[in-house]
Amino acid sequence: MPHRYYTGEKVEMKIDGQVHELPVVVGTEGEKAIDIRTLRASTGYITLDSGYANTGSCISNITYLDGEKGILSYRGYDIADLAENCTFVEVAYLLDHGSLPTRDELSQFSQMLNDFAMIHEDMLRFFDGYPPKSPPMAILSSMVNSLCSFYPEMTDNPLENIDKMSARLLSKVRTIAAFSYKKSMGHPLVYPRHDLSYCANFLNMMFDSPVKPYEVNHKVVAALNKLLILHGDHEQNCSTSTVRMVGSARVNLYASVSAGISALWGPLHGGANEAVMEMLESIHQGGGNFRQFVERAKDPKDPFRLVGFGHRVYKTFDPRCRIIKQACDEVLDDLKVVDPLLDIAKELEEVALKDDYFIERSLYPNVDFYSGIIYRAIGIPTNMFTVMFALGRLPGWIAHWKEMWDDPAWRISRPRQIYVGPLSRPFVPMDQRGL
Ligand code: CMC
Repeated sequence: MPHRYYTGEKVEMKIDGQVHELPVVVGTEGEKAIDIRTLRASTGYITLDSGYANTGSCISNITYLDGEKGILSYRGYDIADLAENCTFVEVAYLLDHGSLPTRDELSQFSQMLNDFAMIHEDMLRFFDGYPPKSPPMAILSSMVNSLCSFYPEMTDNPLENIDKMSARLLSKVRTIAAFSYKKSMGHPLVYPRHDLSYCANFLNMMFDSPVKPYEVNHKVVAALNKLLILHGDHEQNCSTSTVRMVGSARVNLYASVSAGISALWGPLHGGANEAVMEMLESIHQGGGNFRQFVERAKDPKDPFRLVGFGHRVYKTFDPRCRIIKQACDEVLDDLKVVDPLLDIAKELEEVALKDDYFIERSLYPNVDFYSGIIYRAIGIPTNMFTVMFALGRLPGWIAHWKEMWDDPAWRISRPRQIYVGPLSRPFVPMDQRGL
């Protein structure tokens, strides 16, 4: 545990008439936490915090997020500066190495991404085993877990091999994602090319075909870089916490990331980007009556939620959403795409932001609200949206897994609970249990 974050400040907690002192931890941006590690041993009490909304699970130096002010930075760099000036590969390097790469470091890293771009040919047969219309997230999660069988040598000394292992994962997940799309279409696979950048390579593997060669469009490449950067990391969200939790049992990186992919799949998390498009599409099909959806979202008896709205941490605009909304206008303009769903989304946002229900609960559009419209404009099919999120979040998962593995304060993640089941009772043999 880095002692410099313990300032000597303490809080007092009175339990059963006795005062207990607990140390305070202060982060570099001034966030404060009460270190309760001695609480149970000294008082017999545990804390209860379903959904962990008030619980810090670690000390981390990767990403800073202020949900009240709408600030997000990776390794100290504001997300807007990174999205404006960097490629995704630079940001992946930043997240996983802690600093922006020099020209030489970037070229070595890009070389590694090229070297690892192929997947073992035997893995291609796995794709044939999935039934048609299999969810791409299920395929992605299983394929990433399988990487451990094909590249086991890296799992013995993970920190010694972490640079290779992360480059391998970043590169192969991109290939697996594109191949899963091609398989779902029944089209021949397109192999990675060394002459293309990370994002151009992905787009080429997705859209090149023997009958219609893909022409790399630099505006599309730039839009994809921006989207992936904005998804790069988001501190202790559900999938990242999953990666850390699974990894805390000393599970290898591939299996931990595979678990993170499964967590991301959920419609309350990364799956929301697909759900937003389905919602906007059904508003469009129904003649554009979005007010009815707003009313349903407000009805406590209706489980429906306005997808792409609300966030556990942001109580103001999600800074990623602001950038994506602006990028949405630019990309559609550049590509001369007219998408009626963009107008519906903007109207829906305007109405929701003026509505007392959303104002009182501080519900604003989140990262998933506009991202699907850009993906759609650049040709990515809806069922691949969450896969795109996974591709973007991968460097964040890797950075957190590495930080967790290397943390001197590491312990296996093992929360407690308050048991409210039956009290101890005598065992009833089968013949005495009635009919
Ligand atoms: N539509 C309508 N009401 C909502 C919404 C919404 N999208 N989100 C929250 N609320 C209400 C909720 O019903 C509750 O009302 P009340 O206090 O009357 O019971 C209040 O706002 C607080 O909600 P909560 O469920 O306690 O908030 P949470 O922090 O547990 O959940 C969330 C956060 C993101 C799961 C939730 O806002 C939600 O379901 N949003 C829609 C799904 C979505 O867009 N997910 C993507 C999140 S951003 C990207 C990512 O994390 O992957």
